Amino acid sequence: MTQETWLLTGGAGYIGTHIADEFIRNGKNVVIYDSLYQGLESRIVYLRAKHNVEIPLIKADIRDYNEIESVIRTHKIDGIVHTAALKAVGESMEKPDEYFEVNLDATTELLEIAKRNGVKKFIFSSTAAVYGSPDSMDPCKEDGDKKPISPYGDSKYQAESKVTDFINLEGNHGTSLRFFNVVGAAAPELLDNSVENLVPIVLGKLNKGEAPTIFGTDYPTPDGTCIRDYVDVRDIARAHLAAANATTKLPPAMNIGTGRGASVREIIKLVLEATNKGDTKVNEVERRAGDPAFLCADINLAKLAMGFTSQYSLEESVRSLF
Ligand SMILES: NC(=O)c1ccc[n+]([C@@H]2O[C@H](COP(=O)([O-])OP(=O)(O)OC[C@H]3O[C@@H](n4cnc5c(N)ncnc54)[C@H](O)[C@@H]3O)[C@@H](O)[C@H]2O)c1
Repeated sequence: MTQETWLLTGGAGYIGTHIADEFIRNGKNVVIYDSLYQGLESRIVYLRAKHNVEIPLIKADIRDYNEIESVIRTHKIDGIVHTAALKAVGESMEKPDEYFEVNLDATTELLEIAKRNGVKKFIFSSTAAVYGSPDSMDPCKEDGDKKPISPYGDSKYQAESKVTDFINLEGNHGTSLRFFNVVGAAAPELLDNSVENLVPIVLGKLNKGEAPTIFGTDYPTPDGTCIRDYVDVRDIARAHLAAANATTKLPPAMNIGTGRGASVREIIKLVLEATNKGDTKVNEVERRAGDPAFLCADINLAKLAMGFTSQYSLEESVRSLF
């Protein structure tokens, strides 16, 4: 069987590099396309040395449609994993137009380019933010309410429907994967360099000698703090491999989480223990607007459709950061 070649947009990013790692380990060629807006070339240098393979890195914007079409033709791309995006929820409130341009318009155009060039496979990075801020304490199901409350979540939700149109075309294959809170790293070289997620935020504070903050301690949860589903980035990569290799038609969108919730207080405790800073004072302040008490994945669909379940425990994910 000839080796497939996958284009990974955003492939120098935190999640993209872990997908590249997993795909290469499993015999696929990868081509990375990233503006390096947030991505790091050093991660690709690390992967080249680790696997002893050439990994082309095209430094360009996904809104440069001529460039992306030329890359797809030159490298005879079989499938696309589209992770490139803007992902800061707060920033999306300030710059909604830019978020829709990068996350929705560029995805729509990329799908058109894929169609024109006979690329049949497409896996899209979506997010639990499509569910918005549910009142319920039940895990989110894929066919449940989608009420995004930020331009980030809305741009991803609208992009999902474009991806669905694409994969419903005869002979096409793919899905949108809705990641919950991604955590962990396969190697220090591949650590998350953004400050959008709780664990990097807490670590950043501790490194500066500051106290971590809990927003809201009066939620209707066992310890009063918000509960989220933290899924290891290596499991996210495994889910992409399962989707890429699936031979049956996949559902249009699947949650990728662990199905287990952890509270903000529990996460902070784990990080403090892992850094031997267990006696650090923790600030407790008012709730932030828009934070639901509980946001966890119902994970049955990914298990049923492609046999995927997460492997890493939260403790392993946190330990992997040190
Ligand atoms: N990290 C999470 O917890 C999480 C959760 C849910 C969904 N997601 C989604 O997963 C994907 C990857 O997220 P990540 O955490 O790896 O973020 P990241 O910022 O590390 O990776 C995104 C990559 O896209 C690149 N990029 C951004 N705009 C670009 C553009 N216009 N042209 C070309 N490249 C561009 C960045 O340089 C970066 O390398 C995103 O689509 C994000 O929305 C992430």
